[in-house]
Amino acid sequence: MSGVAGVAARQLAIEAVDRIMSKGAYANIVLAPMLDRSDLDERDRGLVTELVYGTVRNRRACDWLVDRFLYDQVELPVRAALEVGAYQLVFLRQPPHAAVSSTVGAVPKKVRGLVNAVLRRVADDVADGPVDWPDLGTELSYPDWLLQLFIDEHGTDDAVASLRKMNEPPTVTVRADGYVQNEGSQLVTTAVGVSPGDRVLDVCAAPGGKATAMAATGAWVVGADRRRSRCRLVAANAADLGSDVAVVVADGTAPPFRPGGFDKVLVDAPCSGLGTLRRRADARWRVEPETADRLARLQLDLVVASLPMVRDAGEIVYSVCTVTRAETIGVADALTALEPSLEPLPVSLPWRPWGTGGLVLPHDHDTDGMAVFRWRVHR
Ligand SMILES: C[S@@+](CC[C@H](N)C(=O)[O-])C[C@H]1O[C@@H](n2cnc3c(N)ncnc32)[C@H](O)[C@@H]1O
Repeated sequence: MSGVAGVAARQLAIEAVDRIMSKGAYANIVLAPMLDRSDLDERDRGLVTELVYGTVRNRRACDWLVDRFLYDQVELPVRAALEVGAYQLVFLRQPPHAAVSSTVGAVPKKVRGLVNAVLRRVADDVADGPVDWPDLGTELSYPDWLLQLFIDEHGTDDAVASLRKMNEPPTVTVRADGYVQNEGSQLVTTAVGVSPGDRVLDVCAAPGGKATAMAATGAWVVGADRRRSRCRLVAANAADLGSDVAVVVADGTAPPFRPGGFDKVLVDAPCSGLGTLRRRADARWRVEPETADRLARLQLDLVVASLPMVRDAGEIVYSVCTVTRAETIGVADALTALEPSLEPLPVSLPWRPWGTGGLVLPHDHDTDGMAVFRWRVHR
């Protein structure tokens, strides 16, 4: 069996999926060192990455595909192998012979018969025509509550298109200065619209993507973050890019800065991250229904506490890489109820109108989903 092409790649992929799905490891943390320790070539590394992220994203669909042919519970590493096998057959449309034999070759001898039998049944089923999915949640492979939330808040068409887009491997964008940053985040920086000489406070700056981009325009940028370890990332990224960002460890709910000291303040707040599920393959299985509400409260606290730092007629910008209403519009509405003197500023194309701010859904421009709101501060 070890002579079958691609067995080592499948072995690594199965081990990674098992560690992520049954031992709670983070996909982006676990995979890179495993690949580094392997002696796989570039092509096989790409295959492993695709298999791991694809299987983890599509885990619910893959489980349904194999569960129909399982008569008993299987141990978790065996389940991981079946999921990886099903992913290859159904989502990558690999020829059944290659997908099945390489996966069977990657599992211990005692379970080869079982894995072979189940994957052959899946292969036969797919050969008969399109998969007859039991429901949309299984087909798109998201928790039901998450699918329902997207449908309730964005309508079925946009919900399904967003969720489908977040099942694709992410597009990687490299800025002119070499920093890898999703284009959705770049849209936020553009919406903040800093000018040379502006004094800018980035309240939640780590790892520094937006702070370094704003500094590159000639603004004077203070990048703060609550966690010291994350501030180190801002400093390291700024140093790598030759970017001048003053880094400060500070809790944004009690910012230690001079009132009225900034022309613009950006609160790029911690959020449920539901616009970034494409890049964070396992996140959909970790986020909980109450996460958005909990973080919405923190976001409001952060924006309210940041307001005094803005000078008269300066601007405050609130952004998140999620698309839930509780975060985004819920926070913006709560803020303006508390601070009626805030003047909403327009957020123009390519953003969709979203309350007084803007929204991009993942399928709009092939980016992360994001929301941004801007206000002028009048004292
Ligand atoms: C969405 S990330 C910011 C991304 C960053 N603006 C960028 O473009 O690279 C949110 C950040 O908020 C930080 N954070 C969480 N709670 C905070 C608080 N109370 N005060 C300041 N920063 C906080 C987290 O450590 C995290 O780095």
